[in-house]
Amino acid sequence: MKKLKIGLIGVGGRGRHAWQTHNPEEGCEIVAGFDPKPESFDKIREELPNIKIKEYSDYREMLKTDIDAVFISSPDFCHEEQAVACLEAGKAVYLEKPMAISLEGCDRILKAAMDSGSKLFLGHNMRHFPVILKMKEVIDSGLIGEIRAGWCRHFINYGGDAYFRDWHSEQRYTNGLLLQKGAHDIDVMHWLMGGYTKSVVGMGMLSVYDKCGRRSPETPGCAKWDSNHWPPLSLTGFSPIIDVEDHNMIMMQLDNGTQASYVQCHYTPDAERNYTFIGTRGRVENIGDHGKAEVHVWTQRGPRETPDIVYYLKEMAGGHGGSDIGIVQSFLNFVRYGTKTNTSPIAARNSVAAGVLGHQSMRTGCNRCDVPQLSQDMINYFENGQKKK
Ligand SMILES: NC(=O)c1ccc[n+]([C@@H]2O[C@H](COP(=O)([O-])OP(=O)(O)OC[C@H]3O[C@@H](n4cnc5c(N)ncnc54)[C@H](O)[C@@H]3O)[C@@H](O)[C@H]2O)c1
Repeated sequence: MKKLKIGLIGVGGRGRHAWQTHNPEEGCEIVAGFDPKPESFDKIREELPNIKIKEYSDYREMLKTDIDAVFISSPDFCHEEQAVACLEAGKAVYLEKPMAISLEGCDRILKAAMDSGSKLFLGHNMRHFPVILKMKEVIDSGLIGEIRAGWCRHFINYGGDAYFRDWHSEQRYTNGLLLQKGAHDIDVMHWLMGGYTKSVVGMGMLSVYDKCGRRSPETPGCAKWDSNHWPPLSLTGFSPIIDVEDHNMIMMQLDNGTQASYVQCHYTPDAERNYTFIGTRGRVENIGDHGKAEVHVWTQRGPRETPDIVYYLKEMAGGHGGSDIGIVQSFLNFVRYGTKTNTSPIAARNSVAAGVLGHQSMRTGCNRCDVPQLSQDMINYFENGQKKK
């Protein structure tokens, strides 16, 4: 088994997700990292006392070493530059979602991967969520006929904790939260519906959080998770600049003739991603999105309260309903053995496309925006497991 030396770009925050790869006995070792916050290194050393991690003040210096793979878990606006540099340096890359904050950024990353032959993997961990896998299984079995429509309602009760206090609140760092959060959900809808968005119409606004108390520009931004943060208008400590929407709605026409919608609100009392996919012979819906969630299926006409089938999903260990363990293993197998993955760089790019153009539409009079197509060569390269024929 090939030993892997891992480098981290973004050690704290979501970077913690990569810490589970550190397992020297099993041939995988985190050896280097770059993070502007020194306390991120204190924390990783505290949690993994046997780790020998070298700190870099410039990630490009880290790329000159013999590390095999890099986890990029930095804020969204850094992804493009850092991913391109890693791929060009010949490193395998695990890149967090969203792939980039612009379509041009995604296409630069795809090109860098194809030109260099370095392996590119996208951290769309929802493709490993048990509820998503169960709904996919139901759809693929043909039980509810041919899928024609898909909707996702995304309730985010921690929106004011996580996205309006730091870099997330500004378009220049995220483009917008429809993209930031919705990249996951649009990707799931594309995957389960078997197509990609070809045109999108959006509507959204900053409807509540512009009225909350702000921190001064001198106070550093910091997410603050607290279940006592309620009601939304009582929240304080928000960023001086908020130019992203807190309510987002898009409608998508997919290239296989199906249609989808995604709505997202950042000031709900509860939190859930609630999907439904409607076919020619029934409908599937998740009730709860992780932990002891359920998947309900209706195959006969009748009341919503009495689905024809209910699947009870077991609680799984690990972050994000068990998906974080699954996706890290998938990345390691992909790097070591070229094993096929659930996630796909082309799909990640196409979820960003729908998010970016959804924002463009809502900010320019709700016009229909069309997704530019990738070259067939590029699609073939990634569909062929990132091997040139
Ligand atoms: N897949 C998921 O479920 C999931 C969950 C959370 C976050 N994310 C993604 O992970 C990324 C990071 O999100 P976060 O909430 O952890 O952000 P964060 O602000 O906590 O930053 C993560 C880490 O990156 C470091 N960092 C800041 N600027 C950097 C730079 N220029 N270069 C390298 N490191 C830098 C921070 O100090 C921190 O340690 C985002 O792209 C986000 O979308 C994904």
